[in-house]
Amino acid sequence: MKLIAPSILNANNLKLGQEIDQAVQAGIKRFHIDIMDGHFVPNLSYGPQLVSDFKAAYPDITAEIHLMANQLDLIEKFVAAGCDLLEFHYEAAPDQVDHWLDYLHEHGVKSGLVLNPDTPVDTVKQFLPKLDQILLMTVYPGFGGQSFLPESVERLHQLRQLVGPDFPVEVDGGINDQTGRKASEAGANVFVAGSYIFGKNEIADQVKELTQAL
Ligand code: DX5
Ligand code: ZN
Repeated sequence: MKLIAPSILNANNLKLGQEIDQAVQAGIKRFHIDIMDGHFVPNLSYGPQLVSDFKAAYPDITAEIHLMANQLDLIEKFVAAGCDLLEFHYEAAPDQVDHWLDYLHEHGVKSGLVLNPDTPVDTVKQFLPKLDQILLMTVYPGFGGQSFLPESVERLHQLRQLVGPDFPVEVDGGINDQTGRKASEAGANVFVAGSYIFGKNEIADQVKELTQAL
């Protein structure tokens, strides 16, 4: 099963509700919410209030948090806000990964570990039993609208080999109909797409095109 998780980072903040509604009407069941701290990445985005507002409006839609922050205790705030799945970067604090995976598990929140493009794929091996998903960055994180890094294809093959056939492997960065298909063929099964879905043509058309391409 292939799943599309639109990143709202490239939506129009003043029309956020309308744009999310349109994606939901088009069949989207999960949104990817990028949290940036201005340190781990040189950009800022949203806080926990957005997540609680989102869950109040869409209790049945998955709120997936991609935490790009050095301070992993922020996880507590997003869990309290009601997120369904939270993924954080291995690079932020390698020695705290086990602790925060346990924390998420204890609080009934699904967990994901994120790897930057330079981090070896087999880094995830030791954490696999505790993980619900792995996110392989296909750009250097920080901004929407960047180009898919071609070396991601080989990394995806390696990761798929490592985790077996059904494990959720997500890609994030530069995903469009063409790169999405390449990533899909290489083993990805969850696809974040920001600028491809928002800020172009009709959201429903973009969702449909990406779905067909995968
Ligand atoms: C980048 C973010 C992505 C980004 C995706 O740091 O993690 O989720 O919003 O945007 P596109 O699809 O435009 O690359
Ligand atoms: Zn992201």
